[in-house]
Amino acid sequence: MDKGLLRARERLSSARSLVVLTGAGVSAESGVPTFRGPEGLWRNFRPEELATPQAFRRDPKLVWEWYDWRRRIIAPLKPNPGHLAISELEKRVPEFLLVTQNVDGLHRLAGNAKLVELHGNIWLARCVAEGTVAENRELATIPPKCGCGALLRPHIVWFGESLDEDDLKTAVEAARNCEVMIVAGTSSVVQPAASLAGLAKESGAFVVEVNTDETPITGFVDASIRGRSGEILPMLVGGAR
Ligand code: APR
Repeated sequence: MDKGLLRARERLSSARSLVVLTGAGVSAESGVPTFRGPEGLWRNFRPEELATPQAFRRDPKLVWEWYDWRRRIIAPLKPNPGHLAISELEKRVPEFLLVTQNVDGLHRLAGNAKLVELHGNIWLARCVAEGTVAENRELATIPPKCGCGALLRPHIVWFGESLDEDDLKTAVEAARNCEVMIVAGTSSVVQPAASLAGLAKESGAFVVEVNTDETPITGFVDASIRGRSGEILPMLVGGAR
């Protein structure tokens, strides 16, 4: 077995606190398109045309049609063994937090409850006038409207927007105080999520990366395990008591 995997399993076996940070490479194992890389969404679509407040102001119908297309892809998909492994870790480790950049809701479906959805959730919509957030699973008309008459927008953090302050504070505090951090399936290029691994490392945590490729954090983590999240994460769980 990979040396890094062995060390990670060993550290997990005694860990009292664990933070798991996930990106699109975890949901990719369920069939959800990633953003970067050969089949990534940003290879076929321009983020500035679809995932910014300006894009939504300019053409709310186009933006909603894109999110509706993504939701139709995601709707039939199920959590994969990587998701289930992370859900099992929440049960086993006393102090646990899942910080996900994924908006597909698959971690909740897999049973995780102690989680922060840093970039929002594709199944939630927000009134642009009142700021109220509610579940929105089907779109009769595009773009949908709030009862107050104003437009609803996807409850997603777009480029150029700031993250929810409480979510970020929770994630940063957990990163600073955990014994082990697992960073799975993220290119670690989008801030502030990309800084959490460094925060954990400088606070003394054992940081494990699970990724099919190298990323900007590969150079400083304690173990960087090359492989698919759906295969590696279940092998890591074996180490947790
Ligand atoms: N197993 C493990 N890792 C994988 C797999 C897999 N099956 N498939 C892809 N990866 C890795 C890729 O090597 C890459 O490092 O997952 C990462 C996916 O990177 P991105 O597509 O950039 O996704 P992510 O890191 O989640 O993007 C962060 O960017 O566009 C914004 O808001 C969006 O939340 C997203 C953020």
